[in-house]
Amino acid sequence: MRIGETHWRTIWPEADGSVGIIDQTKLPFAFETVTLRGVADAARAISEMLVRGAPLIGATAAHGLALGMREDPSDRGLEEAAIRLMATRPTAVNLRWALETMRARLSALPPAERAEAAAALAAEIADEDAAQNRAIGTHGLEVLRAIAAERGRVHVLTHCNAGWLATVDWGTATAPIYLAHDEGLDVHVWVDETRPRNQGGHLTAWELANHGVPHTVIVDNAAGHLMQRGEVDIVLTGTDRTAANGDVANKIGTYLKALAARDTGVPFHVCLPSPTIDWSLASGADIPIEARDPGEVTHVRGLAEGGVVRAQVTNPGSPAANPAFDVTPARLVTGLITERGIAEPSRQGLATLFPDRAA
Ligand code: MRU
Repeated sequence: MRIGETHWRTIWPEADGSVGIIDQTKLPFAFETVTLRGVADAARAISEMLVRGAPLIGATAAHGLALGMREDPSDRGLEEAAIRLMATRPTAVNLRWALETMRARLSALPPAERAEAAAALAAEIADEDAAQNRAIGTHGLEVLRAIAAERGRVHVLTHCNAGWLATVDWGTATAPIYLAHDEGLDVHVWVDETRPRNQGGHLTAWELANHGVPHTVIVDNAAGHLMQRGEVDIVLTGTDRTAANGDVANKIGTYLKALAARDTGVPFHVCLPSPTIDWSLASGADIPIEARDPGEVTHVRGLAEGGVVRAQVTNPGSPAANPAFDVTPARLVTGLITERGIAEPSRQGLATLFPDRAA
């Protein structure tokens, strides 16, 4: 996607075999790239959230495994690299999907052929993610066009960052928004700041501003009020793992948005590429929810006169808890926008679009 006049992806292979990423912990105050040279670099980039967002976590794990094959292409090297990457973050299932896809193909090859094949497969996984998100964009665009035809405008509310920074390109929830904006629809986005790490205020706002999409950052608690006032036409979010029955895990606070949307009659759509579906889980109850450092609640990062600072915002000494995701039941979801079309949020709905996977 666009930064100024340049087209960027969030992850890319370098000529020397290393892998480039954007360091998202520095955004929006600085734009810096980082080079990953081995599996340890890739694991650190995921666990410390230099990269984040379910599809990008998957793509980074794939590239990380490819870097691991340059270091040690033996069966043991493959196993150890996969275990190390798998341990980085628990909720986004794209991580497991990417590692299993890579392992299935690589373990069938002699070690001497693994490094080259792994780099090619990681690039394929990245390209596939960009294409899937583009397709989500075209299906979601139909929904936004229908709203614009009825209301003359589309006010979207989104939570966390489900933009191109969370994927390889396009974003999941933002792909329809970018397409709608580019074809001239009157789109405006309410951006939940998304405490505690502020992915909305830091990352989604930065992306939308770079693309020229009108948007306004709001505190998380303002969303229900805006829905009551008729200021939100649709909620679009991403998801880190969707169970086979259509329950969706996404950034903490998503469930409350879905409840408010249901109460006020606002459609609530979730955008996801198919690697985000966990067919092995019958419902969202068993989705592992990441507990992150309470320090992310007690302290915030922001720009002060002297540069970027970290400041305490809670009573010193008070304990804090930081569950990073919640599960929105399928009954609160209007539609699951995938690369194959819009599924009803149910086992049957997903199976109709993905009969090959549901089996
Ligand atoms: O903790 P993060 O920043 O990795 O969480 C990201 C989200 O919750 C996104 O909304 C999600 O990955 C879906 S989007 C592509």
